[in-house]
Amino acid sequence: MTRDFADARLFADAQRYALEYLAASGERSVFPTPEAIAALSAFDETLPDGTGDAHDVLAMLHRIGSPATVNQIGGRYFGFVNGSVVPVALAAKQMASAWDQNAATYASSPLCSRLEGVVEGWLRELFGLPAETVAGFVSGSSIATFSGLAAARYRLLERLGWDVNERGLRESPPLRIVTGDQAHASVAKAINLLGFGQACVERVPTDDQGRLRIDRLPSLDDRTILILQAGNVCTGSFDPIAAAVARAREASAWTHVDGAFGLWAAASPRLADLTKGIEHAHSLSADAHKTLNTPYDNGVVLCRDREALAEAMKFAGAYLPTNEHRNGMAYTPEMSRRSRVVELWATMRYLGRQGMDDLVGGLHERAVQFGEELTAAGFRVLNDVVFNQVLVACDDDSTTTATLAAVQSSGVCWCGGTTWEGRPAIRISVSSWVTTAEDVTRCVAAFKAARALSPSPNPSLKEGGG
Ligand SMILES: Cc1ncc(COP(=O)(O)O)c(C=O)c1O
Repeated sequence: MTRDFADARLFADAQRYALEYLAASGERSVFPTPEAIAALSAFDETLPDGTGDAHDVLAMLHRIGSPATVNQIGGRYFGFVNGSVVPVALAAKQMASAWDQNAATYASSPLCSRLEGVVEGWLRELFGLPAETVAGFVSGSSIATFSGLAAARYRLLERLGWDVNERGLRESPPLRIVTGDQAHASVAKAINLLGFGQACVERVPTDDQGRLRIDRLPSLDDRTILILQAGNVCTGSFDPIAAAVARAREASAWTHVDGAFGLWAAASPRLADLTKGIEHAHSLSADAHKTLNTPYDNGVVLCRDREALAEAMKFAGAYLPTNEHRNGMAYTPEMSRRSRVVELWATMRYLGRQGMDDLVGGLHERAVQFGEELTAAGFRVLNDVVFNQVLVACDDDSTTTATLAAVQSSGVCWCGGTTWEGRPAIRISVSSWVTTAEDVTRCVAAFKAARALSPSPNPSLKEGGG
């Protein structure tokens, strides 16, 4: 095994493979072909006895791995809400990989400590949050929501005279959790991880867009955590945040906003109204790896109650430095962390306010275009396209299901499926900065071709009507 970093050829290989990959992203099949997936069996080796050749390791990854990737960095991947990657962020990540920083504390990385402080300030400004808001840089919104709810649990119980860190949840005063019945699955997971259990959740009915119905919001109190959603995974709709937060504040309840992809609407003046009221929430979660197109994994929890978050994440050790510097681990569940803030800093520093508006507003424009062109082609668009999500169906369920399957295997584009109001539907999530108006038109053509392949009971549509 070599003990230095002098093998420049190894890094040149990695760079060459990465550049080849990026150059082909425009035309590579959006989902890997069956042959590429079958070739993954080459990885089913026994653990080698001896040390191999590092060049061979990379060559194997490129040869077998690259073709079997989901091409989500191109402009025609619309699955989940995955986003692409802004080039400067990817390049910064490559640099940061060489640094291999541990962002846990100032002592382990003064650079990360400083950048986290800077980005925390930028996020506060961008989202219009109060000056006392702190940020924890986490892997994604699942952990951001977990962290926000942990802060809520600490504070609400502390107010009731119960130190949860000391006394745990056994025999603690009961807390209530109120959320829309379309809250993301990661919310339920965070609730379970925190030991609340689903039995304490009061689910508020939602409207035809998946928004929490404010007229059905129960009365809240100082033992309640209200969880709102900025961006429904199917429709992109936003809960009535301003009205609901106002109710929570009157009752001294805690409000958490899950804004995994939707919070970034605040970065675009033309969409910012959707997020009105977030400035009054106690905690929020957002994913830069979704709408902002940083590389994975890049989430953030924002909390206006610094002490509650820090107490919830408390971690002591005689060997740990206590100083006046920002120690990122004070606001995250993890101790050791990679320097994900580098990519977020690079993206925000590069795009600036105008670039973020262009990016986020552009996703909305492409989504609207998708909706219009699909409608013109005879598809049913089931949602109001207020942000980046388009929910689509054909005239009958079997055609919807068959069309989705054909789209997914077309290689031209990829979308996920869901069930909406008891019927199958296709989810289009426009979340890549790369997607152009031409891409959208090409994908609509792929939808029409996919529908024509399916055994539709409606012959006029089969012939490409609309
Ligand atoms: C609304 C919402 N909340 C939470 C999450 C979970 O985010 P992550 O996958 O980054 O943990 C998602 C993921 O798609 C989401 O759309």
